[in-house]
Amino acid sequence: MKIFISFLIMLAFTSASSQDKQVFTKITEGEQLIYLLASPSIKGDISLEETINSRRSRRSFLGDGVTDIHLSQILWSAYGVTRPSTNPQVRGGLRSAPSAGARYPLEIYAVVGNIPGIEPGVYKYEAPQHRIVRLIAKDVRKELTSAALNQKMVQDAPFSVFYSAVYSRITDRYGDRGRERYVCMDLGHSAQNVYLQAEALKLGTCAIGAFNDEMVTAVMQLPQNEVPLYIMPIGKPK
Ligand SMILES: Cc1cc2nc3c(=O)[nH]c(=O)nc-3n(C[C@H](O)[C@H](O)[C@H](O)COP(=O)(O)O)c2cc1C
Repeated sequence: MKIFISFLIMLAFTSASSQDKQVFTKITEGEQLIYLLASPSIKGDISLEETINSRRSRRSFLGDGVTDIHLSQILWSAYGVTRPSTNPQVRGGLRSAPSAGARYPLEIYAVVGNIPGIEPGVYKYEAPQHRIVRLIAKDVRKELTSAALNQKMVQDAPFSVFYSAVYSRITDRYGDRGRERYVCMDLGHSAQNVYLQAEALKLGTCAIGAFNDEMVTAVMQLPQNEVPLYIMPIGKPK
Protein backbone atom coordinates (compact mmCIF):
# COMPACT_ATOMS: atom_id res chain seq x y z
CA MET A 1 0.00 0.00 0.00
CA LYS A 2 2.81 2.36 1.01
CA ILE A 3 4.64 1.66 -2.25
CA PHE A 4 1.45 2.19 -4.20
CA ILE A 5 0.79 5.57 -2.57
CA SER A 6 4.34 6.79 -3.11
CA PHE A 7 4.05 5.60 -6.69
CA LEU A 8 0.88 7.69 -7.18
CA ILE A 9 2.57 10.74 -5.71
CA MET A 10 5.51 10.26 -8.05
CA LEU A 11 3.15 9.84 -10.97
CA ALA A 12 1.26 13.05 -10.14
CA PHE A 13 4.57 14.88 -9.75
CA THR A 14 5.88 13.61 -13.03
CA SER A 15 2.85 14.42 -15.12
CA ALA A 16 2.64 17.88 -13.60
CA SER A 17 6.30 18.71 -14.04
CA SER A 18 7.44 16.80 -17.09
CA GLN A 19 5.57 18.98 -19.56
CA ASP A 20 7.87 21.85 -18.62
CA LYS A 21 11.05 19.96 -17.80
CA GLN A 22 10.65 16.92 -20.05
CA VAL A 23 12.49 14.51 -17.83
CA PHE A 24 11.82 10.96 -16.71
CA THR A 25 11.44 9.87 -13.10
CA LYS A 26 13.27 6.78 -11.92
CA ILE A 27 11.59 4.72 -9.19
CA THR A 28 12.00 1.28 -7.73
CA GLU A 29 9.16 -0.92 -6.53
CA GLY A 30 10.80 -3.70 -4.56
CA GLU A 31 13.36 -5.16 -6.96
CA GLN A 32 11.76 -3.56 -9.98
CA LEU A 33 13.33 -0.63 -11.82
CA ILE A 34 10.79 1.66 -13.46
CA TYR A 35 11.09 4.87 -15.44
CA LEU A 36 8.06 7.14 -15.69
CA LEU A 37 8.65 8.70 -19.08
CA ALA A 38 8.36 12.37 -19.94
CA SER A 39 4.98 13.43 -21.29
CA PRO A 40 5.00 13.14 -25.07
CA SER A 41 4.86 16.27 -27.15
CA ILE A 42 2.10 16.62 -29.72
CA LYS A 43 3.84 19.39 -31.62
CA GLY A 44 6.77 18.80 -33.95
CA ASP A 45 9.20 20.81 -36.06
CA ILE A 46 8.44 19.17 -39.39
CA SER A 47 5.14 18.63 -41.18
CA LEU A 48 3.58 15.21 -41.64
CA GLU A 49 3.92 15.55 -45.40
CA GLU A 50 7.64 16.37 -45.20
CA THR A 51 8.11 13.46 -42.81
CA ILE A 52 6.41 11.01 -45.16
CA ASN A 53 8.45 12.36 -48.05
CA SER A 54 11.81 11.96 -46.31
CA ARG A 55 11.17 8.66 -44.51
CA ARG A 56 13.60 5.89 -45.45
CA SER A 57 14.81 2.73 -43.79
CA ARG A 58 18.10 3.76 -42.16
CA ARG A 59 20.62 1.11 -41.26
CA SER A 60 23.71 2.96 -40.15
CA PHE A 61 23.70 4.71 -36.78
CA LEU A 62 25.92 6.68 -34.43
CA GLY A 63 26.25 4.92 -31.10
CA ASP A 64 24.98 7.91 -29.11
CA GLY A 65 22.85 11.03 -29.38
CA VAL A 66 19.55 9.47 -28.34
CA THR A 67 17.84 10.80 -25.21
CA ASP A 68 15.07 9.71 -22.87
CA ILE A 69 12.86 12.32 -24.54
CA HIS A 70 13.34 10.50 -27.84
CA LEU A 71 12.58 7.19 -26.14
CA SER A 72 9.39 8.61 -24.64
CA GLN A 73 8.23 10.10 -27.92
CA ILE A 74 8.93 6.97 -29.97
CA LEU A 75 7.17 4.59 -27.55
CA TRP A 76 4.19 6.91 -27.36
CA SER A 77 3.97 7.06 -31.15
CA ALA A 78 4.15 3.27 -31.30
CA TYR A 79 1.33 2.44 -28.89
CA GLY A 80 0.76 5.31 -26.47
CA VAL A 81 -2.65 5.97 -24.98
CA THR A 82 -4.25 8.94 -26.74
CA ARG A 83 -7.73 8.53 -25.26
CA PRO A 84 -7.73 7.01 -21.78
CA SER A 85 -10.59 4.69 -20.88
CA THR A 86 -11.59 2.64 -17.87
CA ASN A 87 -13.17 -0.01 -20.10
CA PRO A 88 -11.08 -3.11 -19.26
CA GLN A 89 -11.48 -4.42 -22.82
CA VAL A 90 -9.22 -1.71 -24.25
CA ARG A 91 -6.63 -2.05 -21.51
CA GLY A 92 -5.98 1.57 -20.64
CA GLY A 93 -7.52 3.38 -23.58
CA LEU A 94 -7.40 3.93 -27.29
CA ARG A 95 -3.90 4.13 -28.74
CA SER A 96 -1.82 6.06 -31.22
CA ALA A 97 -2.27 3.25 -33.76
CA PRO A 98 -5.52 1.58 -34.85
CA SER A 99 -6.20 -2.00 -33.82
CA ALA A 100 -8.84 -4.47 -35.02
CA GLY A 101 -11.65 -4.35 -32.47
CA ALA A 102 -9.36 -2.32 -30.17
CA ARG A 103 -7.89 -5.65 -29.00
CA TYR A 104 -4.29 -4.34 -28.94
CA PRO A 105 -2.42 -7.62 -29.42
CA LEU A 106 1.04 -6.06 -29.53
CA GLU A 107 3.55 -6.01 -26.70
CA ILE A 108 6.27 -3.40 -26.97
CA TYR A 109 9.72 -3.51 -25.43
CA ALA A 110 12.63 -1.09 -25.36
CA VAL A 111 16.01 -2.73 -25.75
CA VAL A 112 18.18 -0.04 -24.22
CA GLY A 113 21.95 0.14 -24.70
CA ASN A 114 23.04 3.78 -24.58
CA ILE A 115 20.54 6.38 -23.43
CA PRO A 116 21.95 8.76 -20.80
CA GLY A 117 20.22 8.25 -17.45
CA ILE A 118 18.51 4.99 -18.43
CA GLU A 119 20.26 1.82 -17.30
CA PRO A 120 20.90 -0.66 -20.11
CA GLY A 121 18.49 -3.56 -20.30
CA VAL A 122 15.23 -4.84 -21.70
CA TYR A 123 12.13 -2.94 -20.64
CA LYS A 124 8.43 -3.54 -21.14
CA TYR A 125 6.48 -0.47 -22.27
CA GLU A 126 3.36 0.00 -20.17
CA ALA A 127 1.28 2.39 -22.22
CA PRO A 128 -1.45 3.39 -19.71
CA GLN A 129 1.17 4.74 -17.29
CA HIS A 130 3.56 5.72 -20.10
CA ARG A 131 6.37 4.01 -18.27
CA ILE A 132 8.97 1.32 -18.86
CA VAL A 133 9.62 -1.53 -16.45
CA ARG A 134 12.92 -3.36 -16.56
CA LEU A 135 12.73 -7.11 -17.19
CA ILE A 136 16.36 -7.93 -18.05
CA ALA A 137 19.17 -6.03 -16.32
CA LYS A 138 21.82 -6.17 -19.04
CA ASP A 139 22.61 -4.82 -22.49
CA VAL A 140 21.46 -7.57 -24.88
CA ARG A 141 22.14 -5.73 -28.15
CA LYS A 142 24.99 -8.04 -29.16
CA GLU A 143 22.96 -11.18 -28.57
CA LEU A 144 19.96 -9.68 -30.33
CA THR A 145 22.17 -8.83 -33.31
CA SER A 146 23.30 -12.46 -33.58
CA ALA A 147 19.67 -13.56 -33.36
CA ALA A 148 18.83 -11.06 -36.11
CA LEU A 149 21.16 -12.71 -38.62
CA ASN A 150 23.99 -10.35 -37.63
CA GLN A 151 22.23 -7.22 -38.80
CA LYS A 152 24.70 -4.89 -37.15
CA MET A 153 22.37 -1.93 -36.90
CA VAL A 154 20.81 -3.60 -33.83
CA GLN A 155 24.15 -3.49 -32.02
CA ASP A 156 25.00 0.02 -33.14
CA ALA A 157 21.72 1.74 -32.34
CA PRO A 158 21.40 3.21 -28.83
CA PHE A 159 18.09 1.40 -28.47
CA SER A 160 15.55 -0.70 -30.34
CA VAL A 161 11.81 -0.92 -30.20
CA PHE A 162 10.93 -4.59 -30.08
CA TYR A 163 7.49 -5.97 -31.00
CA SER A 164 5.84 -9.21 -30.06
CA ALA A 165 2.17 -10.20 -30.21
CA VAL A 166 -0.23 -12.17 -28.07
CA TYR A 167 -2.25 -13.70 -30.87
CA SER A 168 -5.05 -15.01 -28.66
CA ARG A 169 -6.26 -11.46 -27.97
CA ILE A 170 -7.23 -11.28 -31.65
CA THR A 171 -8.00 -14.90 -32.49
CA ASP A 172 -10.43 -15.18 -29.55
CA ARG A 173 -12.71 -12.82 -31.43
CA TYR A 174 -11.68 -13.12 -35.07
CA GLY A 175 -10.28 -16.67 -35.43
CA ASP A 176 -8.12 -17.37 -38.48
CA ARG A 177 -8.80 -13.99 -40.04
CA GLY A 178 -7.33 -12.41 -36.93
CA ARG A 179 -4.25 -14.66 -37.07
CA GLU A 180 -3.60 -14.33 -40.78
CA ARG A 181 -4.43 -10.66 -41.24
CA TYR A 182 -5.23 -8.49 -38.27
CA VAL A 183 -2.20 -8.96 -36.04
CA CYS A 184 0.26 -7.97 -38.74
CA MET A 185 -2.00 -5.17 -39.95
CA ASP A 186 -1.91 -3.81 -36.40
CA LEU A 187 1.86 -4.18 -36.36
CA GLY A 188 2.21 -2.24 -39.62
CA HIS A 189 0.17 0.67 -38.30
CA SER A 190 2.24 0.95 -35.16
CA ALA A 191 5.59 0.45 -36.88
CA GLN A 192 4.81 3.14 -39.44
CA ASN A 193 4.22 5.55 -36.57
CA VAL A 194 7.69 4.66 -35.28
CA TYR A 195 9.22 5.24 -38.73
CA LEU A 196 7.57 8.66 -39.02
CA GLN A 197 8.23 9.73 -35.45
CA ALA A 198 11.89 8.77 -35.76
CA GLU A 199 12.20 10.73 -38.98
CA ALA A 200 10.49 13.77 -37.44
CA LEU A 201 12.99 13.68 -34.56
CA LYS A 202 15.88 13.51 -37.06
CA LEU A 203 16.53 9.95 -36.00
CA GLY A 204 16.25 6.87 -38.15
CA THR A 205 14.98 3.31 -37.99
CA CYS A 206 14.57 0.18 -40.04
CA ALA A 207 11.88 -2.48 -39.62
CA ILE A 208 13.63 -5.82 -39.16
CA GLY A 209 11.54 -8.88 -39.81
CA ALA A 210 14.40 -11.24 -40.71
CA PHE A 211 15.59 -13.03 -37.59
CA ASN A 212 15.74 -16.42 -35.93
CA ASP A 213 12.52 -16.71 -33.92
CA GLU A 214 13.87 -19.16 -31.35
CA MET A 215 17.03 -17.16 -30.71
CA VAL A 216 15.16 -13.88 -30.42
CA THR A 217 12.61 -15.45 -28.06
CA ALA A 218 15.46 -16.71 -25.88
CA VAL A 219 17.39 -13.41 -25.83
CA MET A 220 14.27 -11.44 -24.99
CA GLN A 221 13.05 -14.09 -22.52
CA LEU A 222 9.59 -13.86 -24.03
CA PRO A 223 6.74 -15.64 -22.32
CA GLN A 224 5.29 -18.65 -24.19
CA ASN A 225 2.23 -16.81 -25.47
CA GLU A 226 4.23 -14.10 -27.26
CA VAL A 227 5.47 -14.28 -30.84
CA PRO A 228 8.35 -11.97 -31.87
CA LEU A 229 7.50 -9.81 -34.89
CA TYR A 230 9.75 -6.80 -35.43
CA ILE A 231 12.95 -5.22 -34.20
CA MET A 232 13.27 -1.50 -34.94
CA PRO A 233 16.70 -0.07 -34.05
CA ILE A 234 16.57 3.66 -33.38
CA GLY A 235 19.52 6.01 -33.72
CA LYS A 236 21.01 9.13 -35.21
CA PRO A 237 21.75 8.26 -38.83
CA LYS A 238 25.46 8.37 -39.69
C1 LIG B 1 7.95 -6.80 -43.24
C2 LIG B 1 9.27 -6.12 -43.45
C3 LIG B 1 10.43 -6.74 -43.07
C4 LIG B 1 11.66 -6.09 -43.24
N1 LIG B 1 12.80 -6.70 -42.78
C5 LIG B 1 13.99 -6.08 -42.96
C6 LIG B 1 15.18 -6.68 -42.45
O1 LIG B 1 15.17 -7.73 -41.81
N2 LIG B 1 16.34 -6.03 -42.69
C7 LIG B 1 16.42 -4.85 -43.37
O2 LIG B 1 17.51 -4.32 -43.55
N3 LIG B 1 15.29 -4.24 -43.84
C8 LIG B 1 14.08 -4.83 -43.64
N4 LIG B 1 12.94 -4.21 -44.06
C9 LIG B 1 13.01 -2.87 -44.68
C10 LIG B 1 12.83 -2.92 -46.21
O3 LIG B 1 13.98 -3.50 -46.79
C11 LIG B 1 12.61 -1.50 -46.73
O4 LIG B 1 11.39 -1.00 -46.22
C12 LIG B 1 12.56 -1.46 -48.25
O5 LIG B 1 13.82 -1.73 -48.82
C13 LIG B 1 12.07 -0.10 -48.80
O6 LIG B 1 12.93 0.94 -48.36
P1 LIG B 1 12.38 2.18 -47.52
O7 LIG B 1 11.79 1.64 -46.23
O8 LIG B 1 13.57 3.04 -47.30
O9 LIG B 1 11.33 2.86 -48.32
C14 LIG B 1 11.72 -4.82 -43.86
C15 LIG B 1 10.52 -4.18 -44.22
C16 LIG B 1 9.31 -4.81 -44.02
C17 LIG B 1 8.04 -4.07 -44.38
